[in-house]
This record gives sequence, structure tokens and C-alpha cells, in this order.
Amino acid sequence: MTFEQFMQHYKQEVEGCMRKAIIATDSDQKLEQSMIYSLEAGGKRIRPLLILATLIAFGRDPKLGYQTAAAMEMIHTYSLIHDDLPAMDNDDFRRGKLTNHRVYGEATAILAGDALLTKAFEMIVSDYDLSATIKVNLVQLFAKSAGANGMVGGQQADILGENQTLSLSELESIHHRKTGALLSASVLSGAIIAETSEADQATLALFAHHIGLAFQICDDILDVIGDSEKMGKKNWCRC
Ligand code: IPE
Ligand code: IPE
Ligand code: MG
Repeated sequence: MTFEQFMQHYKQEVEGCMRKAIIATDSDQKLEQSMIYSLEAGGKRIRPLLILATLIAFGRDPKLGYQTAAAMEMIHTYSLIHDDLPAMDNDDFRRGKLTNHRVYGEATAILAGDALLTKAFEMIVSDYDLSATIKVNLVQLFAKSAGANGMVGGQQADILGENQTLSLSELESIHHRKTGALLSASVLSGAIIAETSEADQATLALFAHHIGLAFQICDDILDVIGDSEKMGKKNWCRC
């Protein structure tokens, strides 16, 4: 399987899994549409692919990671919906489409984000292919990396750091929390499901730590010099 085929095949599997999970919910129509709107707006699906690639690297069946991969993408999508809100980055475009709040209104966008976050945990705990121990470890990892010591904490630090001169280590710390935490958790959740050794997990954690930093640096550079059409979101080039 080429890399292109790998991406295409597993993106479809994870997308199918996400759709099934949302459709199965007996939720308010508008809320459901708003959740599906952002989930299906596209996206590179890097985090789910990292989970599945880790499983494959350790010789495990990637199907074991589908629910977890879908859950991770839901948390990431929630973080983007909230990141785009007027009170945060106030962006109009995401993944080549109008942002969630521009289509459904701020209140529904906030609630869609909340619902995606909570749905992710429901998906992990109701995955009957995984043992209770693995599920507890995944829930702990997801909660830690998405919360105040991870992505949400990083977003807060990013807001407080705006128009401030930050030291390199302060900037790195923001990047590691706001972006690195969920990327690291993706690699590590693959390792948890694959039941790898602690030594392998430590090596993977280091690898994922560097990917997280590189990813945010690249995203910030593209914010200035990137082609907004290709990125599907506005860049900040003032020229
Ligand atoms: C964008 O993430 C936001 C950051 C965390 C830097 P992605 O570049 O993975 O966005 P999508 O999922 O492909 O839209
Ligand atoms: C988004 O960060 C990171 C999240 C944790 C959601 P940015 O604001 O830097 O990313 P874009 O440019 O909106 O995708
Ligand atoms: Mg933003």
C-alpha cells in the first residue's frame, strides 16, 4: 500500500465511524447537523492516521483503533470550532468552508464543540474491542491532553501571550500544549492499544513531542505565507 492509498483508505474508515456515531445519537437536529458540518468539512485527519499508523507499525490490526481515531478527530474538530469563535480567533473560514458559528450561530457552535468532546469519551468507553484497562488508559490520556494541562491550557496561554514578547521556551511550551498534546496523544494512544513496552512508549513520546512542535511552527508560517485557498482558511499576510 502506498502512502497515498494508506491515507485515502483509512481516512474513509475513520470518517465512516464518526458519521455512524453522530447519526446514532438521538440529538437535536440542528446540533447534529452542526457537528456533522465541521466533521465532514474535510481536514487532513493527521491525528487519526497517526493512531492507525502506530498500530500498523507494531503489527496490530488497525481496526482496533478506529473508534479511538474517530474520537481523537472529534476532539480536534471541537478544538477548531471553538478556536474560530469570535471570542477566540474570530475566523470566517475553516477547511475551505464557512466556520461553524458563521453557519449555525455562536450558541450552536459552542454546543456542537461541547457535544463532540463528550461524544469522544463515549466512543472510547463503548468500544467493545478494547479491554477495560486499555480504555481507562485512553480516557486518562485523552482527558489530560485535551484539558487544562494540554490543548485548552495551551490555547489560554496563546491568548495571554498575544502581543507579548515571549521567550523561546515560553513559545515552545505554548506550542507543545496547544498543538503537541493532541498529536502526542494520537501516537501514544496507538501505542496503548498495541500494548507496546514502556521503552517503546517513551521513544514514541519523544518522536511525537517533536512532531507537535514542528507542526505548529509550520502552521504558523503557513498562516503568513500560505495559500489560503489550499489551506482552506484565511492567512494573516497583510501584504
Ligand atoms: C490545525 O490543525 C490547527 C492546529 C492545531 C495547528 P490541522 O492542520 O490538523 O487541521 P485539519 O484537521 O487538517 O483541518
Ligand atoms: C489552533 O491554533 C490550535 C488549536 C488548539 C485549536 P491556531 O489558531 O494557531 O490554528 P489555526 O491557524 O486556526 O488552524
Ligand atoms: Mg486559529
